[in-house]
Amino acid sequence: MSASGLPRVRFDHVTLAFDTPKGLLPVVEDVSYDIREGDFVAVIGPSGCGKTTMMNMLAGFQAPTAGRVLLDGRPVTGPGPDRGVMFQEYGVFPWLTVEENIAFGLTLKANRVPARERAEICRRYLDLMGLAAFAQSYPKHLSGGMRQRLALARAYAVRPQFLLMDEPFGALDAQTRSNMQNLLLEILAVERKTVMLITHSVEEAIYLASRIVIVTARPARVREIVEVPFGYPRDEAIHERPEFGELRSHIRDLVMDEYRAQQGQVRPVSFSE
Ligand SMILES: Nc1ncnc2c1ncn2[C@@H]1O[C@H](COP(=O)(O)OP(=O)(O)OP(=O)(O)O)[C@@H](O)[C@H]1O
Ligand SMILES: [Mg+2]
Repeated sequence: MSASGLPRVRFDHVTLAFDTPKGLLPVVEDVSYDIREGDFVAVIGPSGCGKTTMMNMLAGFQAPTAGRVLLDGRPVTGPGPDRGVMFQEYGVFPWLTVEENIAFGLTLKANRVPARERAEICRRYLDLMGLAAFAQSYPKHLSGGMRQRLALARAYAVRPQFLLMDEPFGALDAQTRSNMQNLLLEILAVERKTVMLITHSVEEAIYLASRIVIVTARPARVREIVEVPFGYPRDEAIHERPEFGELRSHIRDLVMDEYRAQQGQVRPVSFSE
């Protein structure tokens, strides 16, 4: 999974302000960075600073107020099957069973595959996500962590070129989270993808990403872009490496600094290691 060549994605002086009853709320301000083919970019920054909004502009759900988001050199004008989006609040359909949720994307015109292949893909992800016993259940009968695993299965099943993931592992217990991180790395080792991942976990960002974009308190600006000095495939053992610890301290300091800027001197409770 090497990053090379022309950027697939370019945030080019991107600014977005929401028009609210209280006036204009600047949320993203003059953000510029590139995501190259095969890059795994993690975005980290304080809660409410504008990360989801930034991803929504790449997903095509929101348009910038100024600047441009370019996909292969062309401005993003709307959502597309090339970008698989995993939403912060789990993108699952409550009226479909677990199995139907996984199959859903594969029935759409852009990603349609024959019924037999669809069944195989469903079976594979039901097993990988530990949901096989719940194939015929509806999402309301699943726990929060199970719903999140279902949302992951849905996003992976259509094999999009771009994976846009908004805190995809936030609702999982530590062990499942670690399993899901490793599964993502395994999938990326087999299927070439370009990833943007929003996370609150500095450890997760370093373990998974090739580059980390640290953004400021609202409005989100790029505070620093860090290259992660580890290649792929990755091994859990990198958590013990001195460079891992140094990078973690550096990024944690930056993020804490931005939390302070946003919330006064209050220590955040939602910020995990
Ligand atoms: N459609 C909207 N209209 C008005 N304000 C909005 C809208 N969407 C988001 N906001 C505001 O924009 C700011 C940034 O929101 P966003 O969801 O991008 O933050 P975030 O960095 O993803 O936060 P978190 O880490 O908590 O998910 C917030 O203050 C939010 O209230
Ligand atoms: Mg968000």
